[in-house]
Amino acid sequence: MGLDLILRDGQVTLGDACVRADVGVEGEKIAVVARPGSLPGGTQTLDLDGRFVVPGGVDPHVHAATTLGEFTTRDDFEACTRAAAWGGTTTIVDFAIPQPRDGARPLATARERMAAARREAVIDVAFHACLVKGDSASLAEVPQLAREGLTTVKVFTIYRDLVMLGLDEVHACMHEVAAAGGLVLVHAESPHIVEPLRARFAAEGRTDARHHALSRPVEAEVDMVRSVLELFRLTGCPGYFVHVTVPEAVTAIVHARLEGAAVWAETCPQYVFLDDSCYAAEDGELYICSPPIRPRAVADRLWEMVRQGAVQVWGSDHCCYDTAQKFRHRGDFTRAPNGLPGVELRAPLLFSEGVMTGLMSVPRFAALTATNPAKLNGLFPRKGVIAPGADADLAVYDPGWEVTVTAPRLHMATDYTPFEGRRLRGWPRMVFSRGRLLVDGERFDGTAGTGQVLAAGPPIPL
Ligand code: URP
Ligand code: ZN
Ligand code: ZN
Repeated sequence: MGLDLILRDGQVTLGDACVRADVGVEGEKIAVVARPGSLPGGTQTLDLDGRFVVPGGVDPHVHAATTLGEFTTRDDFEACTRAAAWGGTTTIVDFAIPQPRDGARPLATARERMAAARREAVIDVAFHACLVKGDSASLAEVPQLAREGLTTVKVFTIYRDLVMLGLDEVHACMHEVAAAGGLVLVHAESPHIVEPLRARFAAEGRTDARHHALSRPVEAEVDMVRSVLELFRLTGCPGYFVHVTVPEAVTAIVHARLEGAAVWAETCPQYVFLDDSCYAAEDGELYICSPPIRPRAVADRLWEMVRQGAVQVWGSDHCCYDTAQKFRHRGDFTRAPNGLPGVELRAPLLFSEGVMTGLMSVPRFAALTATNPAKLNGLFPRKGVIAPGADADLAVYDPGWEVTVTAPRLHMATDYTPFEGRRLRGWPRMVFSRGRLLVDGERFDGTAGTGQVLAAGPPIPL
């Protein structure tokens, strides 16, 4: 065994356990996990002194360089993947969203996005395909998308005239994706609840940020999750709901799974660690995202469900707009860009609020931030696990490192953070991407184009 690197004496996450061990790396791969001190000398060795070693994060919900309507997110794949790495994430899964106005098709869009990521990315990138029309030509591309490594397909049940599918089209999509051995991701909000509320608030001139949240009530999410669950049951297609915010929606998903459906739930830090008081603030537009951030009591119950394992995936829904974009139509939520920057803080927030408070074990943290997203998105066992043969994507968390979050301290291509001023305990001190040390304390050593574009395989049920 010709090891290139030994990470000595970390608390290493191995499946459900966290044990003191050495990790030996050969080239880009993990070669061995062994008792501390048992690996041969003469190799470059980094002493971890009991710091936590977890699989490099897999963020399954990222929108770099993405246009939705009037706005394009500020980051390219280089900026986005750098920021991700600073926050302990070593793989992102982005989206190939066709621009319906240009008549773009899913496959051509996917190939363009993959080419851009290949040129620009610093860490590895995979893609979800997106169906934004239910026409037969788009549906017919699903098998080829899967052959080219896009086995997961995202659909939106909202954002009419941009990317929305009707439920009949979602049904057809599930049929095709199931046949291709893939998985469907769903943004679930009911247009028949949201659109009339938006229209009424707009007609009454009530377009401040608070009315963004009021126009997208919890009922809109629960209603659509329930309808889409019936389609998952009917078609047998596996899938998960992205950015779930409501405990009742999580409960419906758990029950459907108990009854045999292959369905899971993702949530994001903003839905747990923020609450809707942000919309009453002077800068409320900065927090506009869909679904909206919920009242504290809802967020608290969601957090409990995350800790208890009812939510399986921790994504960021990173949408990197800046203040100028968020304020371009200040006072009119109906014209604001939806989404928050978050790829860099996704994992550190959960580590601080979950692991460092003693509310969450390190293996649960690893499952939410890396293993489960890797499995559901067809990247496991290359990603999301510390085991011989896996890519040497590793994050070393230092429980002694405390960071106060401020926008200038972060690396995302924006000038604000929804988590300004928050004190985080524990931070990824070292981050390795396929054996390369990208982040070493305050130093970064990574260049555009060193990330690979990954071809996802079949999703693995949890
Ligand atoms: O507000 C959000 N979440 N914007 C990003 C697009 C999406 O819905 O995921
Ligand atoms: Zn969404
Ligand atoms: Zn999203």
